[in-house]
Amino acid sequence: MELNTSMNQEINKAALAFALTSAFWFAFATSFGMIAAGYLIAPDFMANIGWLQFGRIRPIHVNLVLFGFVTPGLLAAALHYVPKLCRTRLFSQKLGVYNAILWNITLAFGIAALSAGYTQGREYAELIWPVDMLIVVNFVLVIINLAMTIRSRKEPTLYVSIWYALAAVVLTGTTYCIGNIIWKPDTGALVGIPDAIILWFYGHNIFGLLLTPLSLGVAYYVIPRVTRNPLYSHTLSLIGFWGLLVVYTHIGTHHLLQVPVPTWLKVISIVDSVAMVIPVMVFLINIWYTAKGKLGEIHADVSAKFVFAGTVFYFFVNIQGSMMALPQVQRVTHFNNWVVGHAHLGVLGFAGMTALGGLYYVLPKISGKPIYSPFLVDLQYWLVLIGSGGFTIVLTIVGLIQGNAWLNGETVYRVLPEIQIYYILRVAIGFLIAGGAYIGLYNILRTIFFNPGAKA
Ligand code: HEM
Ligand code: HEM
Repeated sequence: MELNTSMNQEINKAALAFALTSAFWFAFATSFGMIAAGYLIAPDFMANIGWLQFGRIRPIHVNLVLFGFVTPGLLAAALHYVPKLCRTRLFSQKLGVYNAILWNITLAFGIAALSAGYTQGREYAELIWPVDMLIVVNFVLVIINLAMTIRSRKEPTLYVSIWYALAAVVLTGTTYCIGNIIWKPDTGALVGIPDAIILWFYGHNIFGLLLTPLSLGVAYYVIPRVTRNPLYSHTLSLIGFWGLLVVYTHIGTHHLLQVPVPTWLKVISIVDSVAMVIPVMVFLINIWYTAKGKLGEIHADVSAKFVFAGTVFYFFVNIQGSMMALPQVQRVTHFNNWVVGHAHLGVLGFAGMTALGGLYYVLPKISGKPIYSPFLVDLQYWLVLIGSGGFTIVLTIVGLIQGNAWLNGETVYRVLPEIQIYYILRVAIGFLIAGGAYIGLYNILRTIFFNPGAKA
């Protein structure tokens, strides 16, 4: 590690490279989200441009938010807090930087392939086989770096954030291979119902075993530090960890309640979806009691307020998700924008906000420089907060209109004019989020490369 003499602070280049990756792809991904949302208002506008068709733009948007923005943002924080909590140095800065470079090459390759129409056509597993292999290699490199860091630790206690970070990358490295059927390079798929089951086992694990544990790791690190309160309960943190692993791994089939999969599998997925309330509330009780009496401190800290908002979104996405797994509810909410609202509430409101909080918390520490503009972080916070809330409200309304119309036997074309106005609202709200992403990119670039404050 190098030493930054001006602030006597060790620069963590690996974490910085992942932070930059996240900020860059956040801006890129939201731009694709805007194009996708625009397309749904005016589908004929770009009718003859192949690579701008909805079927190509949508998977690009989704893969970029998952693997370009949220995951690298959360990993940037983990590459900082794992060595800190182990009271040692990151195993290899060089490995981390090369890892980030390969990560970006993988994403660029993946987008190029999707734009050109090369896809495996399975939601969240669209990327073609060579890109899948690169993703697995990327996860293996992260695992090596984190595991070797933990091996050389000087702190005997393994704090819960470390558990979450390591579990996330190890489990995702594994389920990615299974879900993408990497032993069948040509199709990346099995056939029939078994394929759907295995796809959604993997699909929900991307949220449950990658984004969620990485986010909880960040929350468990940032909240006690900013509030200067000890963690409320070590025991609760362990119950929450094992509860999450036991319950989350069995709920993928709740995406397939309308499909002829075996009933016993549906029952397990429904029961465990409801049981998700246990690990989520255990975590929330623990983290909110840790923050008790310190909301002022949290609100005064630009990074902690992102993380805290993330925990509030986690509460709502859990309550909503458990309800959505009930067949009676899903009869209205499935196959429409209600689910898209839930997706943005979870991936953006919960995991995305937490990733941004983690990123801003570690940025001054990993760069050795103060944040260029805390005001811009605050502005980004409000834009993304209002954007996430706004998306959820608008898309939930659209979902209810669509769900009830279809339940009453309305034809799709009669419903479309009714929801047009909400689609326009989504684009308007999207400008807030995309604006926030570009402001964040600017602020992070200024912090690292053109930061007058650092010279003072
Ligand atoms: C914590 C408890 C949660 C439960 C019980 C739950 C439940 C569900 C259910 C039942 C669906 C399927 C809805 C349908 O197709 O009709 C779903 C979809 C989805 N969930 Fe969750 N959810 C939870 C948390 C989360 C979190 C934390 C995230 C993100 C980090 C998330 C992201 C998503 C996404 C992106 C989809 C859409 C998948 C698709 O494309 O169809 N969920 N969830
Ligand atoms: C400018 C802001 C954004 C806009 C305009 C936007 C728009 C869209 C659109 C149009 C879709 C396709 C919906 C459909 O198939 O009907 C979509 C899907 C999705 N977006 Fe975004 N998005 C934005 C930002 C984000 C961010 C920041 C995240 C996460 C951090 C995100 C996560 C997702 C996910 C997970 C899906 C898949 C939903 C599902 O399959 O149910 N989006 N978005």
